[in-house]
Amino acid sequence: MAPFASFFVSFFVLILSLCLTTAQAKEYLVGGKVNAWAVPASSSDTLNKWAEASRFQVGDSLVWNYDPEKDSVLRVTREAYLACNTTDPMESYKNGSTVVTLNHSGAYYFISGIADNCQKGEKVIVVVMSERHSLHKHLAPAPAPESGADFRAPALAPTAGAQDRVVVSRGMLTLVLGLGLVALRF
Ligand SMILES: *[C@@H]1O[C@H](CO)[C@@H](O)[C@H](O)[C@H]1NC(C)=O
Ligand SMILES: *[C@@H]1O[C@H](CO)[C@@H](O)[C@H](O)[C@H]1NC(C)=O
Ligand SMILES: *[C@@H]1O[C@H](CO)[C@@H](O)[C@H](O)[C@H]1NC(C)=O
Repeated sequence: MAPFASFFVSFFVLILSLCLTTAQAKEYLVGGKVNAWAVPASSSDTLNKWAEASRFQVGDSLVWNYDPEKDSVLRVTREAYLACNTTDPMESYKNGSTVVTLNHSGAYYFISGIADNCQKGEKVIVVVMSERHSLHKHLAPAPAPESGADFRAPALAPTAGAQDRVVVSRGMLTLVLGLGLVALRF
């Protein structure tokens, strides 16, 4: 009786930690590497390629590090994004160390405060998953390219879901089952 009781206790504790692990918010360094907030070196290495390969969820945040004397980050409307119009941003960040929390689902548009840099591609669209959609994807088995720093992963549509979290879940599930088997031997 007692071994089974302890098995179930550890099982539920691990299920609980599994839920907490998968719900954790992430911080994304924009562009996936230091000094990425700049005019892209080539048209095949744009900030939007990086963004499309990442899966942003409500609660995650974006981080920019840049020289405050040379650049800034503007959050703008879609129209201003397309036109690289820097005159009336929704938000303006310019101290060199910018963190933006993604509070809601949908598209966020960011451009460089230097209009000329924006024209040359220093701009990014970040699409944040809705809670319901990401939960659906969370339950669906799917192949899982790494997100975050590795932007060489094939460019997936931002709506592809939180596949990296599925990997975490599978790892945790294996751990749970393994510990369950160990517990059953006692
Ligand atoms: C830029 O945006 C401002 C404010 O929304 C607007 O008044 C102006 O006409 C826009 N400029 C261009 C070139 O679109
Ligand atoms: C920059 O501004 C943010 C708030 O917008 C603040 O949290 C951060 O500490 C500032 N960083 C520096 C280096 O001043
Ligand atoms: C997200 O919410 C926090 C706290 O309410 C606020 O400070 C921040 O400006 C919001 N971020 C965006 C991008 O609206």
